[in-house]
Amino acid sequence: MRLQDKVCLVTGAARGIGEACARRFAAEGAKVVIGDINAEGALAVAASINESGGDCMGLACDVSDKNQIEELVATAVEAHGRLDVALANAAQLHMSDILDTSEDDYDRIMAVNLKGFFLTDQAAARQMAAQTARGEKGGSIINMSSIQVDITLPNILTYSMSKGGIRSLTISASLALADKGVRVNAIAPGSIGTDMVAQLMVDEAARVKIMSRTPLGRLGEPDEVASLAVFLASDEAAYITGETITIDGGRMGLNYTCPVPE
Ligand SMILES: NC(=O)c1ccc[n+]([C@@H]2O[C@H](COP(=O)([O-])OP(=O)(O)OC[C@H]3O[C@@H](n4cnc5c(N)ncnc54)[C@H](O)[C@@H]3O)[C@@H](O)[C@H]2O)c1
Repeated sequence: MRLQDKVCLVTGAARGIGEACARRFAAEGAKVVIGDINAEGALAVAASINESGGDCMGLACDVSDKNQIEELVATAVEAHGRLDVALANAAQLHMSDILDTSEDDYDRIMAVNLKGFFLTDQAAARQMAAQTARGEKGGSIINMSSIQVDITLPNILTYSMSKGGIRSLTISASLALADKGVRVNAIAPGSIGTDMVAQLMVDEAARVKIMSRTPLGRLGEPDEVASLAVFLASDEAAYITGETITIDGGRMGLNYTCPVPE
């Protein structure tokens, strides 16, 4: 198994991509600790993983709260003695453009989608750097970004801004932590079949439009993103740091302003 006995933390794992990553980490032999603002959902996912023979602990955690993130990391370390992998994944989508976004909307989305990632990375990095200083293994931090950094829509301003910040966080943290045995990478999914994407795929016309701009012709599965997360978490990715890896069914390569030849 590719993550045998690694201690892996995942935020926002009560559903969607985070849940798929938690399940795959556990299936690859990891001891998994998940935190989600939806405490009931986190507990249900953990129970389901444990029922199928995995090792998972579910906790309530709002990633925008420093104390709660530090508590999540501390709980993982108390239970398992160290931290090998942290996947910062919890985020929210708010739909409004520059004219309609209130200061409260801005603060709320940035608190979860950007500060939450910073706090998760920082708490994990401090633990991992301390492990390296003791002569133990460091770790792997993974940030769930998005292709919305490079291509976006007018009405998801705060979401795209937060994901842009995550690109900088990933590069900057990877440089600071390279000599401490900690790798930091990001995953940039295209359209993955989760509740979040259902918010954008409001009707059949929206679905057709998204599919017409996705060369592989379908939504990605959360489990396909989890495959990439397993790779980045594993020692197979030992020489990869500071990268954002796109998983989008080919969308970023398509110049969709021109008709596709038959
Ligand atoms: N679905 C996609 O197509 C897609 C594309 C690109 C990037 N992403 C990114 O992937 C990640 C997961 O997205 P998803 O589609 O699974 O979303 P989702 O909405 O299905 O799940 C998000 C999870 O995060 C949790 N959460 C929200 N706010 C939180 C907070 N303050 N503290 C802790 N947990 C919180 C929610 O309860 C939920 O369980 C996000 O970072 C998202 O931006 C998704």
